[in-house]
This record gives sequence, C-alpha cells and structure tokens, in this order.
Amino acid sequence: MFEIKARDACARICDWKIGKYKVMTPNIAIVVNPDKQIVTPRELKDIFGAEIIITNAYIIRNSKKAKQIEKEGMHKVYDWEGPIYTDSGTFQMYSHGSVKIGPEETIAYQKKIGSDIITPLDLFTLPKDNHEVAEQKLKDTMLRICEARESVTSQDLVGPIQGGRFLELRAEAAGAVGKSGADVFAVGGIVPLMERYDFSKLIDTIMVAKMNLPLNKPVHAFGCGHPMLFSLLTLLGVDLFDSAAYALYAEDRRYMTVNGTLKVDDISELPCNCPACSGKKPSDMKMRDIAMHNLYVTFQEIKTIRQAIVDGTLFELAEMRVRAHPALFDAYLKLVANKEYVEFMEKFDPVTKGRAFFYTGSVSLDRPAVFRAEKRLSERYVPPKGRNGYIVRSFERFAKSTKSSHFIMMDTIYGALPSELLNMYPFGQTIVPSSVSKDLLCDSEKSINDYISAYKSYYPKFHILSKYKDVKEFSDFEKTPVDHVLEVRSLLMYQYGRGAEKIIFGDIKLEISKKTGRLRRIYIGPDILGTIRAEDGFFIPAKLGAERLMSALPKPAYRVVVADDAVPFVREGKSVFSKFVIGADTAIRPYDEVLIVDSLDNLIGTGKCILNHDEMMDFKEGVAVKTRLGFS
Ligand code: GUN
Ligand code: ZN
Repeated sequence: MFEIKARDACARICDWKIGKYKVMTPNIAIVVNPDKQIVTPRELKDIFGAEIIITNAYIIRNSKKAKQIEKEGMHKVYDWEGPIYTDSGTFQMYSHGSVKIGPEETIAYQKKIGSDIITPLDLFTLPKDNHEVAEQKLKDTMLRICEARESVTSQDLVGPIQGGRFLELRAEAAGAVGKSGADVFAVGGIVPLMERYDFSKLIDTIMVAKMNLPLNKPVHAFGCGHPMLFSLLTLLGVDLFDSAAYALYAEDRRYMTVNGTLKVDDISELPCNCPACSGKKPSDMKMRDIAMHNLYVTFQEIKTIRQAIVDGTLFELAEMRVRAHPALFDAYLKLVANKEYVEFMEKFDPVTKGRAFFYTGSVSLDRPAVFRAEKRLSERYVPPKGRNGYIVRSFERFAKSTKSSHFIMMDTIYGALPSELLNMYPFGQTIVPSSVSKDLLCDSEKSINDYISAYKSYYPKFHILSKYKDVKEFSDFEKTPVDHVLEVRSLLMYQYGRGAEKIIFGDIKLEISKKTGRLRRIYIGPDILGTIRAEDGFFIPAKLGAERLMSALPKPAYRVVVADDAVPFVREGKSVFSKFVIGADTAIRPYDEVLIVDSLDNLIGTGKCILNHDEMMDFKEGVAVKTRLGFS
C-alpha cells in the first residue's frame, strides 16, 4: 500500500506499507553488510530513526553468517524489526565481475532469509552497452521480473528498470515494469552516471521512467546515496534512496556534505556539529566517526526534504542544492528548459503552496508554477470590457481598479498581470529581490504589446504609465472605491476557467476585512456564496457557490465523479477514497477546490483534491479528495 499524504513538485510524502511494517517516504534504505557492520541496524534505528534497511542476498550467501541467517532469518540476526529490502547480486556482477548465482536461486534464497522486498537478478546495463546489448538485457530482465512475480507471492517484488543510455528503451522498460505487477519501481544502471557526474543523463533517465510508470508505487533510485542529489531527485518523484556510500566513503576518509564530498584530511576545521564531529579535529576522525557523520548528513537531508514538501518549498531547496556543482546546475538548467518535462511536472505541482515563491535566480522563471500561471492567464482570463486600461510599469501593488478603470501591472515574473489577481497564488506570494534587473526577468515591452494587441477591443483607451501617480485622475481614483466584484469575477475565471464568473449574480454583498482591506466573503442576499482564503486568494465555495459552479461549468469541469456505493459517505462529509473515483476532470491539479458529483452529475459535496486525474485513476488506496462539505 502506498498513499500520498502531502506533496510538492513531483515529490510526495507517502505512507508505504510493506507487509506488517510502515515506512514514510521519501526515505533512504541504509545498506547493511552482514560481515562489516560499522554501524549496527539497532543504531540506525535508535540514533537516526531509520525505518528500512537494505542488504545483499549474494553477500549474505557468501558470508560467515550465512548459516545462521538461513536458520534464524535476517530480522533476528540483524536485530532489526522493520522491513528488509534485499538486492539480488546484480550489482556485484557489475562491480566485481562474474557472480555465481542464478535468477531462480536468488529469489529462493531471498525468501529463505526472510526478505520483505525481493529483487530479481536484473541485468545491469552499462552506459557503454550498444542498443542491441541494452535491448537484450532489457528483455532478459523483464523475463526474470515476470518469472519472479509468479513465485513471490507473500513479499513485495522489485521491478528494476534497465535500458542503458537509450531513453526509448528506458521508456519501454518503465512501461513493461509498470505492467509486471512489481511493487517497487527501481531505476537501475544509474551508478555509472552518478560516478561520472553525468547528472543530465541521470535526470533524463529518471524522468523518462517516471513519465512511463504507474503513479501508485514507490520509485527507487538504485545506488543513489549522496545527499547532494536527494532534493533534485525527490523533486522528480523519486521516493527511495539507498546508501552504501556512507560506509564506502568513510573507508576512503571521504566526508559527505549536502554540497558535495570533502577529504577529511584536507579540511582544516570540521564544518559540522553532529555528535560524531562535535569537539573533534579532522585528524581525530576515525572511520566509524566519518561513517556516523555521513549518516547524520544523509538523514538530516531526508528530513529537510520532507519538511520542504510539506511547506511547498522543494523547488527553493533544490535550486539551492544544485548550485553545489556546475554539472548539477547544468542538469537542472536542462531539466527546466525541457518543455516536455515541465509540462509533466505541472500536472503534479500543487496549485497553491503553504509558503511564498522565492526567486533564487532566473532558473526560477522556468518552474511549473510560472508556466501554469502564464498558461492560465492566457487561456482563462479575459479583461472586463469598456474600462480605461492603465498599464503600470513599475511594481506598485496599491494600484487597484475601480468601476471605470482597469489596472494592469507589469509584473517582474508574470508580465502583464491584471491587478485584481494580486492576492492570488502565485502572483501575490512571489518574492523577487528588488534589485534584480527587471530586464533580466520578463520582457516587459513584449508583454505589454501582446496584452494590448490581444485585448484592444476591450478598452476604450490605454494609458501606459511609468508611475501610478502619473494618472491624471489620481485623486479621483483615491476617492473611488476599489471594484472588488471585478476581483471575484477574475479570480473565479483564473481558478476554474472561463464561465465560472457567471456565478456572481443577484443581490451581491461583499465582506471586506477592515484590517487588511481584502475581500473575505461573498454573499448573495442572506446566503454565503463562498469565502476567499486569506493566504492564497482562492475561492472556497459554500453550498450556493458549488451549486452555481455546477451550472456555470460544463461537465466534467472541476468535477470528481464517485461510484454509487461511496455517495452516502461523501454526503455525510467523509473524504473520497481513490478507489471510489470513477472519473475526474483532467484539468484538476493537486490542492484544487473541486465539485464532488455522483454518476448522474448530481452535486454531493465539495473538497480539496489531493490527487490529480491520472493519480486518481492509478491509486487504489488513500484519499483522493478531502471533503469540505457534504450535501444530503
Ligand atoms: N544497485 C545499484 N544499481 C543496481 C541495479 O541496476 N540493479 C540492482 N539489482 N541493484 C543495483
Ligand atoms: Zn558531522
């Protein structure tokens, strides 16, 4: 079972059930070697909070402890109560040449020693393998996964994704592994890419796999144990890492940081206060101290990432981390410059986040949130008709439209931006250093011209102002009330698409916050239509608002359709579980406000979507929509 609890970019925080155990992802499985326990599994749990470990069946079979493990099982011998993931021996084949273990033998052996997650003997594909070789290895790997699935019935099974450097083979592998019934999707053959700092190929390999895999199972980046890479790879949707690196590096006196690796003996002062480093000089650091430090850094980064996902700041974190090395930064630049990747990520990136959008450099302009905002502005928004347009070039947030005027801001990131949308995410929550040259950001001239030519017929006159105070009617505007109805209309359009503004009719009353001057609630006569959420300017419909949205938005817009057996529960206000979803609008994005309907398009509730359309179709477990209101 794998269930999304929180998310950001393609990253997700999930509850992952493995047999009787539960693990939170993103997470890392620390590699335990039966003969060389620099750190014991108990210490991993007690000191670092490790929830899952990984060990190698091939190494166990050749270990001094083999007999004991075969007899008592790994859990007992390792003194470990959580899930144990076993690898098959594939990697040893790659790193030490020939391995003498067969595909059936490794499966039988992994079962025998009590594995919870079993890996078939996949064929490690090297970047240098030609197409023919890579394709053959892929076919053989697929056969082995399918054969293993027949016999692995009470444990989880890993589906390794091979394909070498050929992205079309990677896509094919991901598609086939997705259909194989595997429980964990492990992107394999990537260690050589990481070793040679070919992060761009690493990103391509992971993205192509992600784009072709079902969404409802954890994705593991096989052999990725350097914390420098974690934030970027979780951003792409990797759920699990594994680390032998903490120990291998320690043997070499290499010291991990989130910005790369240092040689302990080259450091003059340890840049860390973890218990392993505290009070020590670099020359005091024994192998075990370095391994412990490496683990502290590793787990700290996993926790930092999980917090960033909850906060909605994973892009900010990843954009900081990728600056650690030009090869990593280059890979990130290529990722966000790739339209296909950004379009894919946009489907998963929440429509609203708990924290502000921090600009960290021009790369931030290529985030999915910016791509989406620009797309929605051009596809969903139309200006009001018959008002004079005032284009304010400088960034003046107090310029507000009145009944006779319409202010358009020249936003440094979003270009021509109707001022009435300034409270909405991401427009009002984007923070750009004031001294960043505007010329480096959006192309203002082009953006103004595009806006004017697109909407010429809407405005009797346009005024292009360098300052708000240049408006001749300035003093008149000061006296004229702000047109908040325009704000409601435009935010509805932006949030739900054209047509949603039709829900404002009748005896409209607006509640404006005395403290902030911001719109709070919209009433029609005595009935509440909806609330405007203070943090992000989103419209949260009340019953009347939801009913009116149903008639204003043509089916299937913003609807989640639930199966008949779930209808009574939703009406009572219970959340919608994904297994009961029978249809949904493909335009829905995580954290959107949606209409919950039955199969005959009767409104039965409203709620906040946790999953997008594709996820609702793939997931069989967990909450798809957190119900806000149930209508009986
Ligand atoms: N460990 C690191 N890479 C791989 C891989 O491609 N396959 C397996 N089974 N284990 C690995
Ligand atoms: Zn340390």
